[in-house]
Amino acid sequence: MLRTDVIQKIIDKKKATRYLEIGVNNGDSFFPIEIAHKVGVDPSFAFSPERKIEWVSKNPCNGTAEYIDATSDAFFASAQPIEKFDVAFIDGLHTYEQSLQDVLNTLDNLNQNGVIVMHDCKPPHVPAACPAPSLQAAIDLNVPGWDGIWCGDVWKTICHLRSNRKDLRVFVLDCDFGLGIVMKGKSDIDLNLTKAAIDAMTYDDVVDSKENLLNLKDENYLFEFLESI
Ligand SMILES: C[S@@+](CC[C@H](N)C(=O)[O-])C[C@H]1O[C@@H](n2cnc3c(N)ncnc32)[C@H](O)[C@@H]1O
Repeated sequence: MLRTDVIQKIIDKKKATRYLEIGVNNGDSFFPIEIAHKVGVDPSFAFSPERKIEWVSKNPCNGTAEYIDATSDAFFASAQPIEKFDVAFIDGLHTYEQSLQDVLNTLDNLNQNGVIVMHDCKPPHVPAACPAPSLQAAIDLNVPGWDGIWCGDVWKTICHLRSNRKDLRVFVLDCDFGLGIVMKGKSDIDLNLTKAAIDAMTYDDVVDSKENLLNLKDENYLFEFLESI
């Protein structure tokens, strides 16, 4: 299942009206999403004006979409009070620290039963998982086997949330490089890692213990989840 399918199914089930996407790039995930109001945040949008117009005719709700040309931190710092969102997709800077900050800021601006979807929580191989402060820095590392896919260490945010936020329900769907699902609610399976332990973990850990660390679920678990929200 693709990220857009998962996001749209959650939107449809919740009859959601407000969507936030952090990290839009060329709009592959943003443009197809159908919802009354969408906000995209990116300091470096990568689509052409023609592509934007084309997508307004393909999916009319793009006509009222808001595009915020800023980092997620700047967006959350400057736009207070932000009208709360029902569903958010976090796919900006792929570092543990920034993806965690994005989740925390989004939670502050999410409706009570809102759902966060996080991309890139299960990197497919070592090069995709290399920690770096930016995509360009990851490219510059010249890691053997690099194929352009970069998930960074976003997966550590899942470990962090599961260990520190027992008020959240957190799991990862095993599709599209790992789709993390975060919402307010009771956590199911416990994880108790210290910050130092999470910092010290490497890609080998997530490969060896992905079910436990990520609370990894088969993609079809989505349908059970949808019944519960
Ligand atoms: C992987 S792309 C997003 C892809 C898109 N969501 C999709 O599924 O097709 C990551 C995007 O995050 C943006 N980005 C990087 N740092 C960011 C930040 N601090 N805040 C928001 N977006 C950021 C980049 O400019 C880039 O366009």
